[in-house]
Amino acid sequence: MKPPVDINPPLPIGVFDSGVGGLTVLGALQRRLPGEAMIYLGDTARVPYGPKSPETVAAYADEAAAHLVAEGIKLLVVACNTATVHALAGLQRRYPTLPIVGVVEPGAAAAAIASRSGRIAVIATEGTVRSGAYDAAIKRLRPEAKVVSRACGMLVALAEEGWAGDIVAEAVLRRYLGPMFEQDPHAAPDCLVLGCTHFPLFTAAIRTMFGPWVTLVDSSATVAEAVAALLSARGLARPAGTAVAATRYLVTDGPDRFALIASRFLGQRIEPAAVERIALPARTKDA
Ligand code: DGL
Repeated sequence: MKPPVDINPPLPIGVFDSGVGGLTVLGALQRRLPGEAMIYLGDTARVPYGPKSPETVAAYADEAAAHLVAEGIKLLVVACNTATVHALAGLQRRYPTLPIVGVVEPGAAAAAIASRSGRIAVIATEGTVRSGAYDAAIKRLRPEAKVVSRACGMLVALAEEGWAGDIVAEAVLRRYLGPMFEQDPHAAPDCLVLGCTHFPLFTAAIRTMFGPWVTLVDSSATVAEAVAALLSARGLARPAGTAVAATRYLVTDGPDRFALIASRFLGQRIEPAAVERIALPARTKDA
């Protein structure tokens, strides 16, 4: 795969995730950078990435990135923690001239600042937890931090199903989070990192469960800030005052459910007809 040759301000920002989770990052980017055009790719045919091997996730991420690069983008956001953990470094080597932003470092930085006690809980996919990436990134910034992590893979399916506010989600959250927080308040974490981009969909449910005692951290706002800073540092930002730009939505499976969940989540109607179905890896003429 050739690196992108021509990176310039009018091009869109590319964002990808295994499914709807990256919309949490996309929403933050749209709010922070309304004048920037964006292309969102949800690999809905192959979600979830969380339980899959590092090699498989890296291969999927390569294909998603290659598709977006071929479309023409000026910056890539890997809006998936699992893909960030398994593929970010490889993508940065493959496309050395393309700015590429992952979601783990910004989330870890936000948690290191937000926690008063240094006791930090992380919930993520199995792949992200197994990699120890959050633990390492948080401890680089706060070596004395005590980090406990838990894989909560079932939440990904509930988010994709559109059931994040459902009573079923509440029961699953209690099962996953109870053991982390139902202990002596002096030993319990005061900060919970939503280390999977699907998990901010459960913010309201988690707040109802734990009240204001636990600070919830997701990396979307920090990622949007990092992207804004990178665009201006590289001279790639669209001029201030540019009209609100459009977002294109690409998926690898049926557009209908994606359009429904995306509309609900982003608070703007997305018609199924506006969601394009693509094949990954891209089908070549002789394939
Ligand atoms: N949203 C992704 C993440 O941040 C992956 C969820 C999944 O596909 O398992 O890790």
